[in-house]
Amino acid sequence: MANVKLTINGNAVSVPAGTTILEAAKSAGIRIPTLCAYEGMGPHAACKLCVVQVEGEAKEKLACAVKVAEGMNVTTDSPALFDLRKATLTEMFRQHKVDCHHCARTGGTRIEDLDPWFCQNCFYCDCERDGFCELQALAREFGVSQLPFEPQQNDFPVDESTGVMVRDGNKCVKCRRCVDVCKAQGMGILGMVKTEKGSTVGAKNGLMADGCLRCGRCVDVCPTGALFMKEHKDEIVYHGHARETTVAAMLCGCVMRELQGLYGKEFTYEQLAASLKKIGVAHVFSPGWAKAESLKQAADILDERLGKGTIIMTESYAAKTFLNAKYPQLKDSFAFYDSMQTLFGRKLRAEHPDWKLVNVSRHNGFAAEMADTGLVDYFVNARELYRIIERTGGAPYRRNPAEVENIADYEKDERYADILNCEGWKLTGEPEEISFKKKGGRKVYKAAVCHNLSQAAKVLEAPEKYDVIRIMG
Ligand code: SF4
Ligand code: SF4
Ligand code: SF4
Ligand code: FES
Repeated sequence: MANVKLTINGNAVSVPAGTTILEAAKSAGIRIPTLCAYEGMGPHAACKLCVVQVEGEAKEKLACAVKVAEGMNVTTDSPALFDLRKATLTEMFRQHKVDCHHCARTGGTRIEDLDPWFCQNCFYCDCERDGFCELQALAREFGVSQLPFEPQQNDFPVDESTGVMVRDGNKCVKCRRCVDVCKAQGMGILGMVKTEKGSTVGAKNGLMADGCLRCGRCVDVCPTGALFMKEHKDEIVYHGHARETTVAAMLCGCVMRELQGLYGKEFTYEQLAASLKKIGVAHVFSPGWAKAESLKQAADILDERLGKGTIIMTESYAAKTFLNAKYPQLKDSFAFYDSMQTLFGRKLRAEHPDWKLVNVSRHNGFAAEMADTGLVDYFVNARELYRIIERTGGAPYRRNPAEVENIADYEKDERYADILNCEGWKLTGEPEEISFKKKGGRKVYKAAVCHNLSQAAKVLEAPEKYDVIRIMG
């Protein structure tokens, strides 16, 4: 594809034709504020924060929606654009329920007015996204502190029907990220919903009634406190400290990657263990044994069933729910194996029935699995873990790493590394096709690895084309 040359803030930029101004700016290291844009999605053209000036155009353009053109001269930052963005952001708070940065325990005192010691080991702030909210960060950046109007409250009912995640329309900025991600999950149950109190984004009849898989992918992308996982810090502190119950946690490796992606900070297992121990977790386990055991189960299935018809295999709880609900006619081909979280819970529960067990993972979908199986008591995702780190002393604890234990001895199973070690969930792209052989065998088998559930739906239109269909959550 031919390249297009343009100028952004005086810098010469060359990008393939068809690129948006937003992507072109990003490729040149120029940041344009956004709220609705998200990698691979949209454009939603919903938040209007990405406004830029294009020379010769009377009106500002949305950088996420307009494609580059030869010779274009773009300005992304100016006093006028700053004022426009500030006005847009201010307007977003007209119907927003702002309850961040206030202490619920002291009747709404601003957190900066409290003595820092008061917040140690206390997790009662009102909004789960406080400190990690893209809207809040933008409001700070653009100096939206005093609202020139009295916010109106719609009092949309809060949807807690899933039991593990919460959808609060009172904090929704209608960015539609969740709508796209739910479509990628093959469900598409989220959209603009009209209610007596106004319109918001949500599920028409409620999440569970509309068949939500509780995969948590919409929570991953929501920029505000409109979608969040139920948190469990308080229960962990209560059992670990007040009740002196033994609390044990398994720390999944993916949490480290997410913490780095979200906050640009690197941690080791041992540093994260130190923060968990500070809130009363007595034992912190690495995921090594559980991961190896889960892969061993998958490899055993392949050893036993390869060449005897299509194998549709997954460890993902959301994928299992999706397959059972939508493809019951294929059930003889299903090969469900245990997730490492289930294996951790089952083993520790059998050995220590009186312990409280915690799974710390980036994959919000495990919360539903843990709630339904009852094998693990609490689920903590990366955002909640980061709040724990900050509230338990933050940086100093990084210099006091704590011990991380192994659940049991294990050996890595490399029998089908090609298809079992492939990358996890992705929002976009095509299913991956892989050819592989049994160890020491000659016959070549064909596998499709689906990185989300809409990819799975596509592959399942003709499952007979593959020996193995592996579905990631
Ligand atoms: S949890 Fe998954 S299925 Fe449910 S609304 Fe969110 S993205 Fe859709
Ligand atoms: S719920 Fe979150 S992701 Fe969905 S539209 Fe509202 S703010 Fe955006
Ligand atoms: S969603 Fe963001 S801005 Fe709104 S109350 Fe929560 S942290 Fe504050
Ligand atoms: S990022 Fe362009 S309108 Fe939201």
